[in-house]
Amino acid sequence: MSTAAGGGAPTRTVIVGQGYVGLPLAMGAVGAGHDVVGFDVDGERIGRLRAGESYIEDVPDSAVAAALATGRYTPTDDPGDCAGFDTLVITVPTPLREGVPDLSFVEGATAAIAGHVRPGCTVILESTTYPGTTEELVGPILAEASGFTPGVDFALGYSPERIDPGNATWQLANTPKVVAGVNDSSLEAVDAFYRQIVDATVPVSGTRVAELTKLLENTFRHVNIALANELAVFAADLEIDIWEAISAASTKPYGYMRFTPGPGVGGHCLPIDPSYLSWQVRRSLGRAFRFVELANDVNDHMPDYVVARLIRLLNGQGMALSRSTVLVLGLAYKKNTSDARESPAKAIVEQLLELGAEVRVADPHVVEERFVPEGAKRVDVTADEVAAADVVVLVTDHDGFPYDVVEANARALFDTRARLSGPGVERL
Ligand SMILES: NC(=O)c1ccc[n+]([C@@H]2O[C@H](COP(=O)([O-])OP(=O)(O)OC[C@H]3O[C@@H](n4cnc5c(N)ncnc54)[C@H](O)[C@@H]3O)[C@@H](O)[C@H]2O)c1
Repeated sequence: MSTAAGGGAPTRTVIVGQGYVGLPLAMGAVGAGHDVVGFDVDGERIGRLRAGESYIEDVPDSAVAAALATGRYTPTDDPGDCAGFDTLVITVPTPLREGVPDLSFVEGATAAIAGHVRPGCTVILESTTYPGTTEELVGPILAEASGFTPGVDFALGYSPERIDPGNATWQLANTPKVVAGVNDSSLEAVDAFYRQIVDATVPVSGTRVAELTKLLENTFRHVNIALANELAVFAADLEIDIWEAISAASTKPYGYMRFTPGPGVGGHCLPIDPSYLSWQVRRSLGRAFRFVELANDVNDHMPDYVVARLIRLLNGQGMALSRSTVLVLGLAYKKNTSDARESPAKAIVEQLLELGAEVRVADPHVVEERFVPEGAKRVDVTADEVAAADVVVLVTDHDGFPYDVVEANARALFDTRARLSGPGVERL
């Protein structure tokens, strides 16, 4: 069991935010023997955690129940419970508001816990953000409220999260974790904390490097997906099978990495994080980050392209979209997850409705009704439901969809993920 420096009691760790990032980290810290407070402002989430129930697919109910059973995991919505921590990690959302980074959650969370900072403790930011946030925003809020100096009285650092929801192979513990501090002693404290939870840490020289590392990783994905998307659009017009070309290129053992086209990007990372970087480049240097802006443009227009292809497909059969029924398979932005934040499915469904189609949607993972666009009807994927649609469009290729039922009963199929086969299937 891990103990606080100089004492026999377990290390007291507070994780602020119990979402996709914070909950797995809280479980990891409990596993490392820490006394863990999982603080979240969402009382409903805290109620579920207290009842031993998880709302994050990668964390089973049994893990929450086991953590509670140790007596060392306390989910709470009372900021007062954050007092007395040795290490505190902030994992709150960092969205965009009208295209501009919205750090209000980070500021709010930092201000709420600042009064609990004491000499010898460690504060770490994990939320994805632009370079400079830890030093220029979090540090000053903590210093002003506590009267203590970051890097001198207490350690302050940044460690980007690499959680990949739904990935059964790469999880928190076996994914190397980049760690940074505002000075050497802070780095040491941050590194020591994560070494108890993950297999390998990657120390870097400062928090700005660590902040940029995360944005580099996500921008790299964003740009390469945009490249695949733009190529898919051209290849369709040139009547070349983009998927076959991608499969062939992927046999190259070096210098190539497989990215695939799709209906657009979604989630908390790709549509948002690169814009943190382009916003900062523009603000600090007065220049455009052209790759990010181009990738945003290409990826943002993929839902429009999917709808255009559906119109063309129906037209080829002498049908108008406005008099057709469309069955949309998938609301989540990513397969096998319930995460429908910023999902391209929403834009596709809304456009189809606007053009007068009758739209039915199916997603076994996304249970929250707020993700079903108004005017669309939620259905299960049955033979009757598939046969009743003039066209079925696969937006999210969840493994749980009954693809044999879809292939056997669909009158027309548009597949944005290259998951389906058969003569009636048209691919993106
Ligand atoms: N989800 C991912 O796959 C992923 C991966 C890498 C990095 N990130 C980054 O990690 C950060 C968190 O993302 P997430 O996906 O875990 O978000 P999330 O929405 O799943 O969870 C965030 C939680 O923070 C809570 N919260 C908001 N304000 C709070 C406050 N002031 N005090 C306490 N709790 C508060 C919310 O209620 C929510 O439960 C973001 O910056 C995101 O970009 C996410």
